[in-house]
Amino acid sequence: MSEQPSSGNRPLIPGQIASWLRIVCFAAAALIVTGYVYLSVRKAPNAEADRRAAQKVLRAENTKKGLALINEPGRNADGTYRIPVKDAAALIVADNKVVAKLQAAAGPAPAPAGAPVAAGAFVKASEEQMKRGAAVYGRTCIACHQPTGKGLPPVFPSISETPIVVGNPELPIKFILQGLMGPITVGGMTFNSMMPPVPGVNDQDIADVLTYARQSFGNKGNPVSVDQVKAVRAATAGRTAPWTTAELGLK
Ligand code: HEC
Repeated sequence: MSEQPSSGNRPLIPGQIASWLRIVCFAAAALIVTGYVYLSVRKAPNAEADRRAAQKVLRAENTKKGLALINEPGRNADGTYRIPVKDAAALIVADNKVVAKLQAAAGPAPAPAGAPVAAGAFVKASEEQMKRGAAVYGRTCIACHQPTGKGLPPVFPSISETPIVVGNPELPIKFILQGLMGPITVGGMTFNSMMPPVPGVNDQDIADVLTYARQSFGNKGNPVSVDQVKAVRAATAGRTAPWTTAELGLK
């Protein structure tokens, strides 16, 4: 049996050591608080670089997902697609919210230069139609062609300052009704993906969204009428397979 040395009435830690200990503890606590404050203040050194890095990652991810969804599922024998478009769109829209936040944080983008139009030929769309068109764009095209209209190369081409979007409306009406696939060069870059038919849009929606696209993103094209859409819908009735760039003479 060993005897514990009795401490008697003496304190466990002698007074002088105790006050040193108190000082050391206090100093340590102060150091931790200062360090914490310093680290949290130091966090925003280069928001622009962070934004660029984040956007690069998002872009790469979107591209991968987009490619997987557009290319992998392939087509059934009857020309229909195995993955519903809304799945692809929802997925990309989810990421868009992040991109939009980053873009908002970075401030407005510089205004792009307008495409040249013959003098006097331009008819400005009504504010009402532009508003309706923007709403349709926001629930249909935006997932792929992006809030800026610049798309997500190399999967989704830009519709900003491209000839097709401001050219004969018959073509984009056809893409919206039945879709488009095959190799196509837009802005010097070759795309070979697929634009699926856009679901849930009536003739007015199509006229509005194309008018909006033709007068946004630096584009200058005249409004599209409901009658123009009606005519194309009637002429292509019964067709379900997407148009190919080869059959439309697009390169
Ligand atoms: C699911 C993605 C997707 C959606 C949604 C979509 N597009 Fe597209 N769009 C594409 C792809 C991909 C191409 C290129 C197809 C190819 O490679 O042949 C394209 C091509 C185009 C083109 C011709 C090429 C160019 O860049 O000028 C136009 C115009 C266009 N889309 C307009 C629209 C409009 C307007 C909407 C909405 C009503 C829309 N798209 C919705 C994916 C999409």
